[in-house]
Amino acid sequence: MVEPYDVVDLIRAKRDGGSLDTAQIDWLVDAYTRGVVADEQMSAWAMAVFIRGMAPREIKDLTLAMIASGERLDFSGIGKATTDKHSTGGVGDKITLPLAPLVASFGVAVPQLSGRGLGHTGGTLDKLESIPGWRARLTNDEFLAQLRDVGAVISAAGSGLAPADGKLYALRDTTGTVECIPLIASSIMSKKIAEGTSSLVLDVKFGSGAFLQDPGMGRRLAETMVQLGKDAGVGTVALLTNMQTPLGLAIGNANEVRESVEVLAGGGPADVVELTLALAREMLALAGLPDADVEGHLRGGQAMDTWRAMIRAQGGDPDAALPAPAESETVAAERSGRIVDLPALPFGIAAWRLGAGRARKEDPVVHAAGIDLHVRIGDLVEAGQPLYTLHANDPARFARATEALEGALVIGADEDPVNDGGPLIADRVA
Ligand code: URA
Repeated sequence: MVEPYDVVDLIRAKRDGGSLDTAQIDWLVDAYTRGVVADEQMSAWAMAVFIRGMAPREIKDLTLAMIASGERLDFSGIGKATTDKHSTGGVGDKITLPLAPLVASFGVAVPQLSGRGLGHTGGTLDKLESIPGWRARLTNDEFLAQLRDVGAVISAAGSGLAPADGKLYALRDTTGTVECIPLIASSIMSKKIAEGTSSLVLDVKFGSGAFLQDPGMGRRLAETMVQLGKDAGVGTVALLTNMQTPLGLAIGNANEVRESVEVLAGGGPADVVELTLALAREMLALAGLPDADVEGHLRGGQAMDTWRAMIRAQGGDPDAALPAPAESETVAAERSGRIVDLPALPFGIAAWRLGAGRARKEDPVVHAAGIDLHVRIGDLVEAGQPLYTLHANDPARFARATEALEGALVIGADEDPVNDGGPLIADRVA
């Protein structure tokens, strides 16, 4: 086959601040997927995009080309509205666990194709795999049957969705080109649009534990993704949410499942409940149910019933004991005062070092490892009061985790300013 373009010309065009037309972007993505464009050439192009940016039309073309590189699912035959949520990831972000069954308890279908954790932000599948028997891999027929019968499915995304993104994302990870709005937006939205949901709510995080720490960058990412969703006919709304401090009290896997079940039982930490309810309202409004009584379905047990059905349908036992850690260490306050800083990032890194996360894609996670916080930012504490407990199966992991937490939690005077990053839900982009 005679290739219509020379990739070096396209790299040069981007390097010099020009833009590529639709046919050029289509070809670049297709040729990269076929292996005609080499990794080093795609890396050079990604770096040129990182430095020069992309016009909105180019971002849309890139997204559509990555969708076209694989299969596109279609749930129009199941007879229910579909809606999904995507979070850009944070520390203690277990919201998908209570959210998917809560939304599905209103008769709406939630097809959640999730990933595993890499680095300090955890993965939804890793958390659910703490539940004995639960399996992430479903056949297409199992997936559709569960979507029809239970309404909520959280499963592993197959490699058939946007394979060009899979290849490009792995390359970006090793070439310093991840933190780039056009590339992040097209990467996330190509997978979500290919997944076939008819509406989508994005939870775009900013602050210490977020992938883009600056709120302005978070807003630009949210605006770019919402526009891509709308252009593709997927009703899309984004909430900009604060990840300055961990979400909830549990950071890990099994402990995050436990906390999610508390929320489903009508309890749980106020911030986890607030975000679950806000995202559920947005998803249900997009699915045509703007007045759904979401709090009522947490209090009344309907969300819990759907959770139990969802876990059972995937082989899990919702009543089984969750894995318990072999070793735990509690850290107590050295002085009395107010918690004025409790940044998410060091706690995410510490939980990861305890074994809750993985350094390489193929590493296993330790489901019982993680951190339970006993205090929140802004709390008043007494000297000697427990602040947090570290859990691991291998006690040798405590030293490195403790190193990450050195100086992280700050106890100040009552009147000191509290570094909480502001309200949990900072804004909405629609
Ligand atoms: N998550 C993705 O799927 N892609 C990115 O580029 C960044 C985060």
